[in-house]
Amino acid sequence: MSCVHVNLAERSYDVLVEPGLLGRAGAVINATHLSGLRAAVISDERVARLHGEVLLAALEAAGLKPSLHVIPAGEASKSMSQAEEVCREMIRAGHDRRSLVVALGGGVVGDLAGFIAAIFFRGIPLVQIPTTIVAQVDSSVGGKTGVNVGEGKNLLGCFHQAQLVLVDPETLRTLPQREFCEGFAEAIKHAAIRDAAMLADLAALDPGCREVPADLIARNIAIKARIVEADEHETRGIRALLNFGHTIGHGIEAAIPYGEMLHGEAIALGLRAALFLSERHCKLAPSASRTVLDLLQKFHLPLVLAESIATATIMEKLARDKKFASGRIRFVLLDAPGNAYVSDVVSHADLRDAIEHLRTRV
Ligand code: NAD
Ligand code: GLY
Repeated sequence: MSCVHVNLAERSYDVLVEPGLLGRAGAVINATHLSGLRAAVISDERVARLHGEVLLAALEAAGLKPSLHVIPAGEASKSMSQAEEVCREMIRAGHDRRSLVVALGGGVVGDLAGFIAAIFFRGIPLVQIPTTIVAQVDSSVGGKTGVNVGEGKNLLGCFHQAQLVLVDPETLRTLPQREFCEGFAEAIKHAAIRDAAMLADLAALDPGCREVPADLIARNIAIKARIVEADEHETRGIRALLNFGHTIGHGIEAAIPYGEMLHGEAIALGLRAALFLSERHCKLAPSASRTVLDLLQKFHLPLVLAESIATATIMEKLARDKKFASGRIRFVLLDAPGNAYVSDVVSHADLRDAIEHLRTRV
């Protein structure tokens, strides 16, 4: 079993990665200080149907007396009203401060369940069991929880670190092709900012099969863990490195009707834009950009922006991004694969040029 320890003083925890872990979740939880608590499992309807039974049986067998709370699949479930509804359901099911939340699902479930764990009876423990690539390599680690509001994504929330993360790569087998591929945008981002050698390991994967080696997932988690340890609350300009490709990516996501593009697909476009600006401002070699773009293409991620998505709309959405709150544009650039840094040289004109660059053929 791979274990990545996230060292955050009294908020430290382990991320365990092993095929088949879902069916042993109860025993593993019981072997920690969380034993004896009651489990409130939060999942979405799709994941609950596919993987809920195995988890509930494992928790039941371990005496964790689970209840199941199912939300509709999709980003719209990351809302205050959904959080309140699940909290009330949990209270009616008899949960209190001697309970723990178990998040079974992708980033939507993880972010919502993490937020619920943070506010339920003023905070109870959280176990994350991520089932998408995005959630396994990124969102289940690092403690960011939250919900969306009409004015923007992830604008309400708090930091609430999990106390245990259980990653079972076998759960990825049920992911549809498009959802499987989109998650690799975050893994490619990790390689680009911190681990150039991983670009080749990702290139060796077959996007058509759902096999992702546990050690490759653990390597991604370790990249995120080291960054979170250095800057847990994103106040030192280190955690911001994880936003590589996300500034313009988020702008594109916000500019199109909800659900039209998956998160990873928008991030792939954002990565292309960030590579363009890295070539312009810090002499990133075009051949290095090419390697990353080829990899994004291998996972069938989009690199050309549709004419119907207006540059002005994306620019307007960017201005509302919380990363622009201080008025300065803090943009993550790459001077070589594996070496990212936060810069303030990028201007509004650069952003416009980078968006226009996305209209050109790769
Ligand atoms: P998601 O949670 O919406 O999952 C995508 C789809 O896949 C859903 O329909 C879900 O039901 C389905 N699914 C999940 N696991 C499955 C499985 N094993 N088999 C079959 N279907 C499965 O999307 P996501 O990409 O995992 O997460 C996106 C969310 O994560 C966004 O809200 C984003 O803001 C958030 N996020 C948070 C962080 C963080 O640090 N907290 C980081 C990155 C992304
Ligand atoms: N996914 C970005 C972060 O956790 O900071």
